[in-house]
Amino acid sequence: MANTGYAGAGAGSRHDAAWRLLRLKSASARGVDGYGTEGERVTTGMAIEIRDLSLTFQTADGPVYALEKANLAVRPGEFISFIGPSGCGKTTLLRVIADLEKPTSGSITVNGVTPEAARLGRQYGYVFQAPALYPWRTAEANVMLPLEVFGYSKAERQERARRYLAMVNLAGFEKKYPWQLSGGMQQRVSIARALSFEPALLLMDEPFGALDEIVRDRLNEQLLRLWAETRKTVIFVTHSIPEAVFLSTRIVVMSPRPGRIIDVIDCDLGDRRTLDIRETPEFLKIAHRVREGLRAGHSYDD
Ligand SMILES: Nc1ncnc2c1ncn2[C@@H]1O[C@H](COP(=O)(O)OP(=O)(O)OP(=O)(O)O)[C@@H](O)[C@H]1O
Ligand SMILES: [Mg+2]
Repeated sequence: MANTGYAGAGAGSRHDAAWRLLRLKSASARGVDGYGTEGERVTTGMAIEIRDLSLTFQTADGPVYALEKANLAVRPGEFISFIGPSGCGKTTLLRVIADLEKPTSGSITVNGVTPEAARLGRQYGYVFQAPALYPWRTAEANVMLPLEVFGYSKAERQERARRYLAMVNLAGFEKKYPWQLSGGMQQRVSIARALSFEPALLLMDEPFGALDEIVRDRLNEQLLRLWAETRKTVIFVTHSIPEAVFLSTRIVVMSPRPGRIIDVIDCDLGDRRTLDIRETPEFLKIAHRVREGLRAGHSYDD
């Protein structure tokens, strides 16, 4: 039932998906608390548990096997990256977790409940590849949007907008419109917006893909600091091996046609990483293993 046309790229569909994630007020007004709406709460202690999950899109040209028999368990507070060539199902898997797509078969729980219950319980913050900010709203008003939808008081909205914009180094830019901000600043506004209602899970789909390397490095450092401060569970999609190794506690390597998880790599480089770590043998060893996994899963016919 969630699979109702939020596919494809483009600002329109991103806004649709963002809006769908926010459209929770009526559900919460009905007293749905996100726990126990669909069966018993499963107490695995996992933030995400995916078992034999497959998703096939039926298209005019025949079926597209976007995901096949994916298995993954994510502990609370982990920073997990999905990496793999275009079309291997990274966004699809993120969207299944966020309840924006329904799997064809297999099972998934998020903090012990269905993705739908987790969504109704406001457990997701979603950061899209492009910032998807509303151009007629200031940075502050963009951050306040989910807080308005969730019924926070004006004072609380203002306090949180200020606090989370400061957290992403945008103090002083509250009253600027998106078009007055650089791409990196806009992306930071969208991160502040995703954090503003303190979701248990932060889902990020190539948030820094369009930025130059220096800006990306800085945002990587900031994101790592934010993660260390907030201890959110983060699922992060990227095409960059150094970015994945620098940020993650584990890296999920995927391959296309059908979309599969082909390796899950531990990335135990400690919590206090600085960019210099990229020169160390430990870092290069993990990066090498990711590259090998990507090579093994890559079809050169593409
Ligand atoms: N709504 C849809 N209808 C039909 N096919 C779809 C739909 N959404 C995704 N697909 C297909 O599913 C496969 C996986 O797509 P997905 O967007 O998850 O890939 P991705 O790994 O995120 O790629 P990229 O790195 O390019 O963003 C692709 O073959 C894509 O064409
Ligand atoms: Mg994608």
